[in-house]
Amino acid sequence: MNFSDSEIVASVMANDDHRLVDQAADADVIFLNTCSIRDHAEQRVLNRLKELQHLRKTRPGLVLGVIGCMAERLKEKLLEHDELGMRVDMVAGPDAYRELPQLLADVEGGRQAMQVILSADETYADITPVRYGGNGVQAFISIMRGCENYCAYCVVPYTRGKERSRDPASILNETRQLIQAGYREVTLLGQNVNSYRYHGENGPVDFTALIGRVAAADAQLRIRFATSHPKDMSDALLRQMAAHPNICKSIHLPLQSGSTAVLQRMNRKYTREDYLDRVRAIREILPGCAISTDLIAGFCGETEEEHQATLEVMKDVGFDFAFMFKYSERPDTLAAKRYKDDVPEEVKTRRLTEIIELQQALSLDSNKRDVGTVQEVLVEGVSKRADSHMMGRTSHNKVVVFPCATSRPGDYVQVRIKECSSATLKGNCIDH
Ligand code: 5AD
Ligand code: SF4
Repeated sequence: MNFSDSEIVASVMANDDHRLVDQAADADVIFLNTCSIRDHAEQRVLNRLKELQHLRKTRPGLVLGVIGCMAERLKEKLLEHDELGMRVDMVAGPDAYRELPQLLADVEGGRQAMQVILSADETYADITPVRYGGNGVQAFISIMRGCENYCAYCVVPYTRGKERSRDPASILNETRQLIQAGYREVTLLGQNVNSYRYHGENGPVDFTALIGRVAAADAQLRIRFATSHPKDMSDALLRQMAAHPNICKSIHLPLQSGSTAVLQRMNRKYTREDYLDRVRAIREILPGCAISTDLIAGFCGETEEEHQATLEVMKDVGFDFAFMFKYSERPDTLAAKRYKDDVPEEVKTRRLTEIIELQQALSLDSNKRDVGTVQEVLVEGVSKRADSHMMGRTSHNKVVVFPCATSRPGDYVQVRIKECSSATLKGNCIDH
């Protein structure tokens, strides 16, 4: 999400005659695009801001701006030098990127500048993101913004505002441009892509229809999407995935907790059984499809039994991969208002460790099942660990490392999987 936003910001700034530089030390303007999802993310931004202050000595005109979710959440507090213990010149929320050049002009005129008004309809549909820092093979396409699910722990509805879907014509245009530029994989991004719905002149377009159109643009283009909310994961979408070989068979379906009581406190709007029913539908309609998830350890009031329920569902489903977090209370969210953050830190840590250890075993099981199979791999580049090896991903979003001097980023190659760890598959290329 943030990466995709940064590409929009780069585009807005390029249109205002700015260009990207590689090093912060060479920049006249530095924007930190920020995330507020957990306290840890915000602390890292504050540390980075402190680190960057020394550049003001060598570049007296340097403009330092905070943009994105943390800008939205903290607003003018970020401009109060004394309180913050350092200087920030500009603050811009996630719907204010078009105004960055104007805000910059205000700062250059000697003022601090801030724009944090959230919009009901901004989707940056007409802005072609400047792709940077990527591998030229995979790109993100933002299809919607905001979220109105109000999960009790989550700050996103407050920092990113109302849910709005982007015009499908502009999404398809962006897809075609990427194909022409040689990209081979796009990830359709939104906080809850299943509730994508655009009301155009020819009637509404939902996510199932949208992904079908994107997949039809080019059979050689892989399509992924994130994130799905279990309450909105329809059979129709699963059937659409089954109908298009180029839609990757990998679904990210955040569970958060395996306990219905915790899910209710989290305001997730599904039960453990509802979740397992969606997994059953995935297994039935898309046999072999990978399922990954997000899990939170130690949410307010979580008992030992409730934690065990999470471990049970993890085993039942056999997740291929998971992002796992300790609950971090965020100011002003429903949970902060309604519940006490009462699971002691050491208990949260222990539960998270148990979740991580179980997931490592599940990921290893999942990878072992692939040993001996042949997988179609989209090559992304040279392996970080060994120059003599290439790396790419399977449709299931698993990283594969293999020696293959002749393959290039963007190629599809067939790889026979020989061995694995819990994080990586290793194999040999069989068609080069
Ligand atoms: N504490 C811990 N994890 C959180 N997430 C969102 N908010 C919080 C929070 N306050 C996690 C959820 C979500 C992922 C993007 O981040 O698991 O799916
Ligand atoms: Fe946050 Fe829930 Fe929206 Fe995801 S669906 S962004 S967890 S409020």
